[in-house]
Amino acid sequence: MNAERFERAIADDERIEPRDWMPDAYRATLIRQIAQHAHSEIIGMQPEANWITRAPSLRRKAILIAKVQDEAGHGLYLYGAAETLGADRDELLDKLHTGRQKYSSIFNYPTLTWADIGAIGWLVDGAAITNQVPLCRCSYGPYARAMVRICKEESFHQRQGYELLLALSRGTPEQRAMAQDAVDRWWWPSLMMFGPPDDASPRSARSMAWKIKRHTNDELRQRFVDICVPQAEHLGLTLPDPGLRWNEERGHYDFGPVDWAEFEAVVRGDGPCNEQRLAHRRRAHEDGAWVREAAAAYAAKRAARAAA
Ligand code: ACO
Repeated sequence: MNAERFERAIADDERIEPRDWMPDAYRATLIRQIAQHAHSEIIGMQPEANWITRAPSLRRKAILIAKVQDEAGHGLYLYGAAETLGADRDELLDKLHTGRQKYSSIFNYPTLTWADIGAIGWLVDGAAITNQVPLCRCSYGPYARAMVRICKEESFHQRQGYELLLALSRGTPEQRAMAQDAVDRWWWPSLMMFGPPDDASPRSARSMAWKIKRHTNDELRQRFVDICVPQAEHLGLTLPDPGLRWNEERGHYDFGPVDWAEFEAVVRGDGPCNEQRLAHRRRAHEDGAWVREAAAAYAAKRAARAAA
């Protein structure tokens, strides 16, 4: 009966809410994906925070601080969404800190120059939006609703990155070269964000059937490439792929092969910054222990007062 009602709700495109019955595997899949997503948001603060003290103007610094704070907020909404499924936030963080839960491969690459902030905004946040807009129609209500606000904020992130790169690409020859170098380094890792190719994506079929995912990894990757090519032309920058060309028959851009061995290595923990990211994350968590203790003590005091 319960299972029937669940299947009917999925078929009718209705939202599943926290108190509704759901299969254990549906719950576990959502907790896994939402937790990985939340972890990505908070680990994603690191590569960009690296440039806050070196932003070239007050305006750029204010934008960057706002953006990094947004990422922290996204992490909080997402941990909140995972909690509606019965997950425990401390446990999720513990799994991140001990390497038992993943976060996005993209945040294991270094930010070497100021232009990387532009390339991350344009490409990384652009890829995130392409992946996340369909998640606003995810079958699980709290996740879908969290994604609406996240996507609005990501769209500001994407625009600030594009505008930053545009300024550099129309600047001095050195600035232009710096912008091109950043795009050269971030392009392929951005394509990897969409996950393994469909024939090597063990989770896709089940998640599509449950309407957690609305498109496959390859469909979204293709959509992203198609969006980026004209944007790169407008920037006057090239994308580092000699195989990139319009395919009239398919109505899409063809693109060269992604280096899946690199992707697997980064996901396994062997990317350029994996160790650094996790070590920093653990340290930040330990440094914040007194804040958590103070907040808990304050909440206990208020609760005792309310009960008196
Ligand atoms: N980095 C790290 N791990 C990845 C990546 C990636 N780019 N892509 C896929 N994986 C992992 C999957 O999480 C899965 O791991 P698990 O089975 O151990 O849990 C495994 O590789 C196999 O991949 P899929 O079968 O394709 O897994 P899934 O159906 O979950 O699809 C995807 C992966 C597309 C990333 C999906 O989980 C998703 O849409 N997540 C929400 C978006 C998100 O997390 N974005 C984070 C980056 S954006 C940002 O934070 C700004």
